[in-house]
Parts: sequence; C-alpha cells; structure tokens
Amino acid sequence: MDDFSRVKLNQSEQLPLVPSGKLCIPRQIQSTDQPILSTISLQLSLVIPTYNEGRNVQKIVSQLSQLLDTAIINDYELIIVDDDSPDRTWEIAQSLLSDYPQLRVMRRQQERGLASAVIRGWQVARGDILGVIDGDLQHPPEILLKLLFAIQNGSDLAVASRHVEGGGVSQWSFVRRFLSRGAQLLGLIILPSVVGRVTDPMSGYFLVRRSSIADINLNPMGYKILLEIIGRGRIGKISEVGYVFAERTAGESKVTWKQYIEYILHLARLRSRGRVAFLRQRFNFPIIRLIRFGLVGLSGVFVDMALFYLLSDPSTLAWGLTRSKIIAAEVAILNNFFWNDFWTFREISSHQKGWSQRLKRLLKFNLICLMGVILNVLILNLLFNGFGLNRYLANLIAIAIVTFWNFWINLKLNWRVTEVK
Ligand code: GDD
Ligand code: MN
Repeated sequence: MDDFSRVKLNQSEQLPLVPSGKLCIPRQIQSTDQPILSTISLQLSLVIPTYNEGRNVQKIVSQLSQLLDTAIINDYELIIVDDDSPDRTWEIAQSLLSDYPQLRVMRRQQERGLASAVIRGWQVARGDILGVIDGDLQHPPEILLKLLFAIQNGSDLAVASRHVEGGGVSQWSFVRRFLSRGAQLLGLIILPSVVGRVTDPMSGYFLVRRSSIADINLNPMGYKILLEIIGRGRIGKISEVGYVFAERTAGESKVTWKQYIEYILHLARLRSRGRVAFLRQRFNFPIIRLIRFGLVGLSGVFVDMALFYLLSDPSTLAWGLTRSKIIAAEVAILNNFFWNDFWTFREISSHQKGWSQRLKRLLKFNLICLMGVILNVLILNLLFNGFGLNRYLANLIAIAIVTFWNFWINLKLNWRVTEVK
C-alpha cells in the first residue's frame, strides 16, 4: 500500500456519478468521473446503503472510520448509497465529507432498492475487497476486522452470521424470528446449493473479494444481496463470523411483506436460472415473457370460465353456447390486455405512452384475440360436438392452443411493432 497523505477532495469531487444499466462489477477499477480518485486502488470499499437514516449516518461513519483508521488507515473507503431519502440522509452524509476524506456519497434518484444500491456502490468502488453493512448500527462495526482477516487469509466471502457461535438477535419478536428462520428453511428446500452454504443467508453484512463477482451480470431482488452473490458469484471458500444483531436506536426497519415475496421470487429465479438461460439461449425464445403471458392467460381463463358458467350453464342464465362464449371471451380479452400491457410487455409499452398508442395496442390485441376466439369456438365445437368431449375440457384444450397462438402473433405483430416504432 503506497504511502500517501489523505486524498482531500472538495465536495463536488466526492459525489460519484450514479452508474446505470447492467448491475455488473468491473474487474478493474473504472476511471471514475473523479479523476483524482481513479488511480488509487484500495484494500476495502464498504458500501452503506441508506434510506431515512438521517439520525444514524453520522454515528456509523464515525464508528467505522475510527475502527478502520486503526487497522487499514488510508486503504479503505466508505460509500454511502442513499435512495433520495425523504429525511435527506444524503445531504447529512455530504456534510460529513470534509471531516471524513475516505467517505463518498451517492444519491440515487432513478433507482430504488437495497440490493441494487449495494451493487451500484460497488460499481464505483476502488477496493479489492467489497463489503456491505447496514447504516442503522444494527450490524456491530467491530466484526468488520474479523471479516477482513478472513478474506486476507484466503476466503472469497466472509459473512457476519447471527446463527453461529457468538451470534444472535437481540429482542426480535417471535414473529420476526419465525419469519427469518422460515425464510431460511424455504431457501434450503428451493435452493439448497446456495442457501445451504451459509448459516445466515439473510445476512446483509459481509465482505466479498472483487475478483469473485467481477464481470457477472447480477440480478438481485429486494433485500437479499448475499443470495445473489453466492448464487451467481465464483465463490470458493466462505467464512462466517458470529454477531448479535442489535436493536435500532433510531429510525425503523423497511422490511415489509414485499421483501419476503421478493425473496421467494429471487430463490425461484436463481433456481430456474440454468434452465431458463438454456431455453433462452438454445431456442432464443422469450421464455420469461411466455411464462408471464401464460399466467395472464390463466387469469383470463378464470374470467372466461366464470362468465361462461354464469351465462351458459343450465342452472344460471342458460344462454346459448356460442353467444355465452363470445361474451366471456371478450371480457377475458380485456382482462388479458390490461395485464399484458402492464406486466408482460411493460418495458415496451412503457416507451409507448399515451392513450392513442394504448388504444392502438388494444385494438390489435383484440383483433388477434378475436381471431383466436373464432379458432377457439371452432376447436371447442369440434371437440364438444365432433368428439363428444366434456364441454369444459374441450374449452380448456381450445384455450391452451389459442393462448400460444395469441402469444406468438402478439409478440410478432403487436408489442414488437410498437417497440420498433
Ligand atoms: N439505498 C437503500 N435503498 N437503502 C435501503 C433501502 C433502499 O431501498 N431499504 C433499506 N435500506 C437500508 C436501510 O437504511 C438500512 O441501512 C439497511 O438498508 C437495512 O435496512 P432495514 O430496513 O433496517 O433492514 P432490517 O434491519 O430489517 O434487516 C437488515 O438486516 C438483516 C440481517 O442482516 C437487512 O440488511 C436484511 O437484509 C438482513 O437480513
Ligand atoms: Mn435495520
């Protein structure tokens, strides 16, 4: 580590530009937008993700600086990544820049989320070792030196764990303990190869060697950045250090049910990663979109079936088969259009804003699906009247065939066309 006096930067130089695009950590330190910084490589870059931590940020920066100045002075940086907190945490952090030259503050205004905040911080980092610690003082800073020691001694990943010797949670409620352990159990069932490698897969406090995660497109969801690192990184040896998850002294946790749902989706995505990537790669087929289109279609099936029953069943309105079918199908089409436009093809439709564009897409969707309805009615009548199949089974088979038809034609003629325009 070359000896140099602290690199004093003025405030404007301290604010790294917010990276955008792929969540990929460079193998080499990128020449940052702050020329004076770009030539210096450091041992450790520690990201502190913050959201409404205005009352904690000064304390965490001061405690970490005192600790790291004793161990690796001038060889580390602290990178606060704030998501435009309403309590202006980023502004309070900026006011600390003159007292803490090793501090950098990133204010994100276009993106939100704990996991992506950590990766954006690592993208501007200069350390050979990258780390994350919460900004609310619930992760005891002193554990950091033990984590650093583990990496220096050959581990690729060093995790602060609540579930090894010396670990624990302070006054967590039974519900929070149950949810945390339950989430871990679920992870062991869905993704044992990843979740099973550590005792605390939910930990948000760890260090990782840059070379173990460089040049990989990371794609985390919600809070669980560690899952993504173990799931996609080149992680050999893992060390764990016990710590007691402290009570917050100020502010409150942002964990909601949304993070638990995202955790399950994240597990499923990591689990299917191999298969989905293979299909996408092998057949160059938009498999995710088809899955979403299928799920939307499923919701349409329920709408179609419910209305078809209400209109045509002898015990309800007992309307004619075809008339009932057409009405049920049209309502299902409107349902499907809304969800496909809002979810399946969102990144395309979001570039084609405005009611006239949306109406155009709806008309095209309707036309394509109406052709599908005609096909559906023909197949339904063929199976019901021609082959004597049960009416509902015949309807289901017809819907399945027509769903694929609708997906492919919409993909090629509808959203794709608006995408090109
Ligand atoms: N930039 C940014 N954006 N920071 C965020 C966001 C966000 O959307 N949401 C939360 N944070 C910051 C908080 O400000 C805090 O510094 C840290 O991330 C953790 O958020 P909390 O809301 O306090 O989470 P927790 O205490 O319930 O759980 C934490 O500790 C657990 C055990 O390590 C999280 O790190 C969990 O992921 C972890 O499992
Ligand atoms: Mn917390």
